[in-house]
Amino acid sequence: MNNHITNTKSAYFPLIHPKQPGFKGTAPVEKLGKDVFVGVRDCLIQETAFFRKPEIFEFIKDYVITALKHKPEINIIDGACSKGYETYTLAMLFSNTGKKVNILGFDIGKNAIDEAKKGVFDIQHLTGNKNAVSVYKMGFSAYDDSYLAFPGSAKLKGKQAEYKKLFDEFFTEIENYKPKRSYLEILKEKLFPDFTPHINKKAFKIKPEKANCCSFIQGDILKLDEIVPQKSADVLMFRNALYHLTTKEGPLGFKTPLPDEIIIPAVKNVVHQVDKALNKNGLFVIGENDCDHVLTTRNVLYSALEKLNFSPVLKNSDGSMYYIWKKN
Ligand SMILES: C[S@@+](CC[C@H](N)C(=O)[O-])C[C@H]1O[C@@H](n2cnc3c(N)ncnc32)[C@H](O)[C@@H]1O
Repeated sequence: MNNHITNTKSAYFPLIHPKQPGFKGTAPVEKLGKDVFVGVRDCLIQETAFFRKPEIFEFIKDYVITALKHKPEINIIDGACSKGYETYTLAMLFSNTGKKVNILGFDIGKNAIDEAKKGVFDIQHLTGNKNAVSVYKMGFSAYDDSYLAFPGSAKLKGKQAEYKKLFDEFFTEIENYKPKRSYLEILKEKLFPDFTPHINKKAFKIKPEKANCCSFIQGDILKLDEIVPQKSADVLMFRNALYHLTTKEGPLGFKTPLPDEIIIPAVKNVVHQVDKALNKNGLFVIGENDCDHVLTTRNVLYSALEKLNFSPVLKNSDGSMYYIWKKN
């Protein structure tokens, strides 16, 4: 058994386990009742990918190595970490830098955190009709890490070759892995081959000794101060998760927008807690999907950050979205 991955209490952060009586980091939906809550929460599990949007990770790495070079240890919080693809991406990226990093991933989804602790990951690769593949990819832009696991990786160049080497150092392929396929998936493929790509999957397990710097717990962005002690984080990521604060899940998983009277205080509350958790010169990282920067969220988020003396340090190419903010 790998203690490092299954530990719910980080060696570096005095965390409260969600099941302990003192834990209050649960979502408002809990009021709906336990079963509904568990159902809703588990639906929140989303796919992500390794090295997703590399320029964001590269920025964090360069910043930590140069601007925070005086610090012997760096604490990184990966909020809304889903199954931990980004958490382990950070572990891989920092592994050859000589910098000691402690990375804590948390997510509101219990299943997501259980999966992250197991450290077993699917990588998928789409084949079949080209149009079907590109349409599918448009809808699921997170799936861009197939180069790490599928044929053709011997010819990789530049960053992809570098990431593939790191991936091979960190992960072992699970032999004879047979992914479960739903009947619907099989039927769709048979009936509509022109519109349905074939999804090939391989599974990999993190090597225990490589997971030492990562720990995972269940927790809520809205209760960040119960997870992260004040002024303890050097980098805090909430990538592609803030938009969850702008909608509410209905009974069948349908999302309805929340009114501004709820969104605005929630976003301000998050910013306030981020400010408390970060060290001076720490980074706050937001998602690259525009849903994290929709009008209400963006205006409230950006102005709340500016008020607390944060400044944007990484923008998208047309300057309309600020991905990374520095606490001054
Ligand atoms: C689209 S995924 C993003 C995963 C990853 N950060 C990425 O960008 O690839 C959104 C994640 O946010 C989590 N989430 C939603 N609301 C949350 C909350 N209030 N606190 C913590 N996590 C939350 C969901 O469970 C889900 O895993």
